[in-house]
Amino acid sequence: MAHEETPAHPDLPALLRTLRVWPPGATELRPFDPGTAPPSPLPLFTAWFADAVRAGQPEPHTMSLATADEDGNPDVRIVMLHGADAAGWSFASHATSRKGRALAARPYAALAFYWPVLGRQVRVRGPVTTAPAEEGQADLHARSTGALAAALTGRQSEELASPEALREASDQAWRQARENPAEPVPGWTLYHLRPETVEFFQGDPERRHVRLEYRRTEFGWARQLLWP
Ligand SMILES: Cc1cc2nc3c(=O)[nH]c(=O)nc-3n(C[C@H](O)[C@H](O)[C@H](O)COP(=O)(O)O)c2cc1C
Repeated sequence: MAHEETPAHPDLPALLRTLRVWPPGATELRPFDPGTAPPSPLPLFTAWFADAVRAGQPEPHTMSLATADEDGNPDVRIVMLHGADAAGWSFASHATSRKGRALAARPYAALAFYWPVLGRQVRVRGPVTTAPAEEGQADLHARSTGALAAALTGRQSEELASPEALREASDQAWRQARENPAEPVPGWTLYHLRPETVEFFQGDPERRHVRLEYRRTEFGWARQLLWP
């Protein structure tokens, strides 16, 4: 597996010392005046998302999804953002996966986006609900053949006995996905996270980072700054 240019035992501390966050030239740290922020977080999220796309941030639509299982133990992984609107921030997965089981036991999650080209981070927390099954299937069928094949392969997070077992199941799933782009995938679930807090972090060259947190209250959204 080792790549030619990668020594078998790289000196991790030395490598870490060579790295910088937000190197000038690769990152543009824009001033962010929280006084100009809209009264609710969704328009700001949408604007920052579009900024990340325009600035050439690779894969701005991937996010960390943190859950806690029934014992309260945390876990985190990357998933794709399927949308952010009045229903909340949406993502999809198998209900029987680890995250699916955690969400069934504790329907509450946190998301984190990191857009290094702009030195920005967005964090979202709140309760999670599952969309009606038809909505989840329609969402899946509007995506790529590969996404459908991956979902059809199934058994996510189960122990894999051998690479051959995966190849066999995946070949069959690709065949099904190509033959029937509307093939239903039992257990495939669209989740909506309804935000209770949304935090916008703008990095600052002098480390006076701006953190603006929106908090849902019974009267609407409250906003406050946080020490960085
Ligand atoms: C870029 C990227 C995007 C991913 N998108 C998804 C996704 O949208 N849904 C999903 O179930 N898994 C996705 N995965 C795989 C998850 O990170 C994870 O490996 C898988 O869902 C199993 O997680 P679990 O065992 O915690 O349930 C993605 C992985 C990467 C690297």
